[in-house]
Amino acid sequence: MYHDQLDAFPKHFLWGAASAAYQIEGGWNADGKGPSIWDHFTKIPGKTFKGTNGDVAVDHYHRYKEDIALMAEMGLKSYRFSVAWSRILPEGIGSVNQKGLQFYEDLIDELIKHNIEPVLTLYHWDIPQSLQDKYNGWESRQAIDDFDHYARILFDRFKDKVKYWVSFNEQNVFTALGYRWQAHPPNISDVKRMFESNHIINLANAKAINSFHELVPNGVIGPSFGYGPMYSFDCAPDNILAELNGEEFQNHWWLDVYVHGKYPKVTLKQLNRLGIAPTIKDGDMELLQSAKPDFLGVNYYHGGTVRANEIEHPLQIDEQDLEKDFQATDPYLMKPKEEQAQSPETRMFTNVSNPHLETTDWGWEIDPIGIRIALRRLQNRYDLPMMITENGLGAYDELGVDEKVEDDYRINYLSAHIKEIQKAITDGVEVIGYCAWSFTDLLSWLNGYQKRYGFVYIDRDEQDEKRLERIPKKSYYWYKNVIQTNGEEL
Ligand code: BG6
Repeated sequence: MYHDQLDAFPKHFLWGAASAAYQIEGGWNADGKGPSIWDHFTKIPGKTFKGTNGDVAVDHYHRYKEDIALMAEMGLKSYRFSVAWSRILPEGIGSVNQKGLQFYEDLIDELIKHNIEPVLTLYHWDIPQSLQDKYNGWESRQAIDDFDHYARILFDRFKDKVKYWVSFNEQNVFTALGYRWQAHPPNISDVKRMFESNHIINLANAKAINSFHELVPNGVIGPSFGYGPMYSFDCAPDNILAELNGEEFQNHWWLDVYVHGKYPKVTLKQLNRLGIAPTIKDGDMELLQSAKPDFLGVNYYHGGTVRANEIEHPLQIDEQDLEKDFQATDPYLMKPKEEQAQSPETRMFTNVSNPHLETTDWGWEIDPIGIRIALRRLQNRYDLPMMITENGLGAYDELGVDEKVEDDYRINYLSAHIKEIQKAITDGVEVIGYCAWSFTDLLSWLNGYQKRYGFVYIDRDEQDEKRLERIPKKSYYWYKNVIQTNGEEL
């Protein structure tokens, strides 16, 4: 579908930028803050690039006024940030750390003073370490009530100041990296435990959304999902089937629960067969069905291309095995069930690289049309308003001798994606805002400070905090003009 003329962006479109507490704040134990699992994890040797951590990060905790002044100067309409649970409740439960709460109140007031709409994320990956120690964090159902208690403190305090709320950031990413790939805290490699904790987080999400609707009738809330549309490698029917499997296993597995309160049947059956489906207790599905988000937050970086497994890995079977039974023709089924369970997607699809797409310095595919496809698919299936809550380019930016950063590549990247969003809007998709990732440079969880995303350069690196000076990049001025023209000049 091609349009002669594109619709203008909606009048009150929320042109924004995003961040997350651990990646920018620093002040890791300031004013009574307790440690989170990230404070703990980054101290384990070999886990992050050059041992980087967020102890100081970009010191936003002490420099938020300077950062917000830069946002105001840019004309930003919205700013998405996350609250560190262990700043509010250092032990995760118990008495409130008033100074921690006050920090966020001051931040929100400062945003409002400059007409910047706050978008508050309740959870961007940093459960308090004390809850991890006490009952294994998200593996315990106690975390559902404790998260709700924490969320209600924020709902109560900020219900008249914050309209847009995000419940969980990229549940798909932090459960996979934390419980399967041992790349994030809590540093576990166990697929069954991943699905169990994921179910508990679904319940926590639903319970907090219900509390929100009780306490903040004028606000809106939704999860931010890391969505990557699945593409079939080609039009061979078995690859189309692989695409269907991939979409269901990687995306609908979460989104169907958020929006419709049910797990997709085919994936659930497969997980049950392998003995790794989550334990669903009486009342769980009712709770999931009772909570409906008001909008979907979409974090878009790239999608994924898949093909049927047998094509990618041609069958290699011993002559002897062929003598056995028909099952012997499938090497996957010949593995013990426990082994099959460690890679449940094996027979559903295989990831392959897409020959049509270039990649970033970190190998992430660059696919602007994918954001339009994402928005179209999500509108079709879930029919909720959407906010792009993250999208951006990680790159090695260089501070020139003239103290300038000429990041034309970032401008090209963002411009191409925003143009596709405009096409999606013209198609008929309801998009209420766009948060570029990120406002300032920040700590990339595993890649230190060299992988930069910001409109504002922060003068620090892995070894040296230097001056932590804020230097607007070329993209800062470009985005300022995008906002001023409401997207007419991209
Ligand atoms: C998203 C996260 O997954 O990707 C952000 O929500 C993160 O917190 C961003 O920083 C970019 O990831 P990375 O690994 O390049 O820093």
